[in-house]
Amino acid sequence: MIRAMRDVIVAANWKMHTTPAEAGELARSIASRTRVAGVTRVICPPFVSLATVGEALSELDADVGIGAQNVHHELQGAFTGEVSAGMLAGLASWVIIGHSERRRDAGETDELIGRKLGRAVDAGLRPILCVGEQLDEREVGRQDEVVGRQLRGSLGDHDPERLVAAGLVIAYEPVWAIGTGRTASGTDAAAMATVIRQTLAALGFPAGGETLPVLYGGSVTSAAIGEFMAEPSIDGALVGGASLKPDEMAGIVARAGLTAAARGSTE
Ligand code: PGA
Repeated sequence: MIRAMRDVIVAANWKMHTTPAEAGELARSIASRTRVAGVTRVICPPFVSLATVGEALSELDADVGIGAQNVHHELQGAFTGEVSAGMLAGLASWVIIGHSERRRDAGETDELIGRKLGRAVDAGLRPILCVGEQLDEREVGRQDEVVGRQLRGSLGDHDPERLVAAGLVIAYEPVWAIGTGRTASGTDAAAMATVIRQTLAALGFPAGGETLPVLYGGSVTSAAIGEFMAEPSIDGALVGGASLKPDEMAGIVARAGLTAAARGSTE
């Protein structure tokens, strides 16, 4: 069964929270409270805390991936304040790309996001590509078209096999659900996962995109996660606000573990 082959992933996006002085302790606390079989855990702290989080997790011997929240689309050069994929060597093995806050605040386009994706893959980073529609787009029923365009615009120039080999993950994050306390329904998220895989299939991804994990993101909490993990097409969550709270992360990863166990037993 193809579904059983997909990783169940819970990724924590700390955004612009935590100083290096705070980050190690928070990472330790989350890592020690989320040891659940079958769930791949990833923590994405700010750039300046990547090293501290890495040290904290290696002391614990915790099997937790570390991710950056962004990466530049050029290898190096006169780009003040930016961080290249090569600079992340030894600090991160994952990277979030195309988060809606960067599309909004840094004007990232699908084309630029596609270039970042290429740099990430070349550097051996596992990318989490974020897509999702705005509220006004959903209200007029344009979510499929918007997400399809985002995927085509950022993935279209890449070799699908190479992205699969790099472990590409897609996070469906409706913009209106991010940081708002309002989540999509499990059914809507599952429908979007189908749209995402149909687009991947049309782009030539092997097995019609069925091997790629699709996460849901947007106001995920320990109370809300069950609805998403109950959907066979959803493989985990990208968690923002709740990922700063070890109690919440414990609940979210525990629930994801139930899905991982259920999938494993149906293999
Ligand atoms: P949120 O953020 O959980 O705070 O809504 C999710 C995200 O932006 O990745």
